[in-house]
This record gives sequence, C-alpha cells and structure tokens, in this order.
Amino acid sequence: MDHERAHLDLAQRARRAADHAYAPYSGFRVGAAVLDADGTVYTGANVENAAYGSTICAEGAAIAHAVSSGARRLTTLAVACVDAPSLADAYPCGECRQRMHEFGVETVVVTSAGDELRVHPLAELLPHGFRFP
Ligand code: THU
Repeated sequence: MDHERAHLDLAQRARRAADHAYAPYSGFRVGAAVLDADGTVYTGANVENAAYGSTICAEGAAIAHAVSSGARRLTTLAVACVDAPSLADAYPCGECRQRMHEFGVETVVVTSAGDELRVHPLAELLPHGFRFP
C-alpha cells in the first residue's frame, strides 16, 4: 500500500475511534489509531474523568492498547480531533508526543472530522525527545 493511502486509512480509523470518546466535560472528542511495524492497527479514544487531571488522551489510550497487546515498535500514529474547528487545533499534546517517541513512532497524521490531513515526522513535532541514557 502506498504511503498516502495508508495515511488516509489510518486517519479514517482514528475518526471512527472518536465515536467511542468519553468526553462529557470538554465535549472535545478525540480518536487515535496507531500502526504497529507488523501492520496491526490499534485504536483508542479520550477517556475523561470528573477529576480532570485523571483524563487519558486518545493517543495515550491507543498506545496503551498497542503495547498492552504486545506491540513494541510503532511506526505511524493518526489523531483525529473531530470537534476541532481547524486542523491547527488538532495537534497532539506534548505528553503524547513523548509517548510516541518511546515506541519509535516516525510519522504523525493529524486530522479532524473532514478528509483533510497533515503529515509530520515526529522529530518535527518533538525534537530531542527524551530517551533513558
Ligand atoms: N486530548 C486528547 O485526547 N489528545 C490530545 O493530544 C489533546 C487533548 C483530549 C483530552 C481531553 O479529553 C480533551 O481532549 C480536551 O483537552
């Protein structure tokens, strides 16, 4: 599959995952889909909490889903902020960028409710991410 097609498909999986978002406080539904090096796709959605700081981001949920299913080497992550007014409001938070870095994500696909998407190397969104020495 060519890269462009793969990015479109992963973005679509992330948009669908946002259907399961639990976001009663912010009303901001987010879905994520992450591709394992072996081709498996794992999804996640944001899970909010009345204690706001206990909220789990969609990307964190997707990465936890992948890693707790045995994945260790992730290649591409798509995030879909389906309630974002524009793509500029749909970028992953800093903590999730570091989570992606831990498992080798190289490419990040950013999308919202529509078909439009942006593709970035993770190194552009998180230069000099932390690694344990
Ligand atoms: N959120 C994500 O799921 N991913 C991000 O990268 C940024 C923010 C969620 C957390 C919270 O449920 C809602 O968006 C508003 O912050």
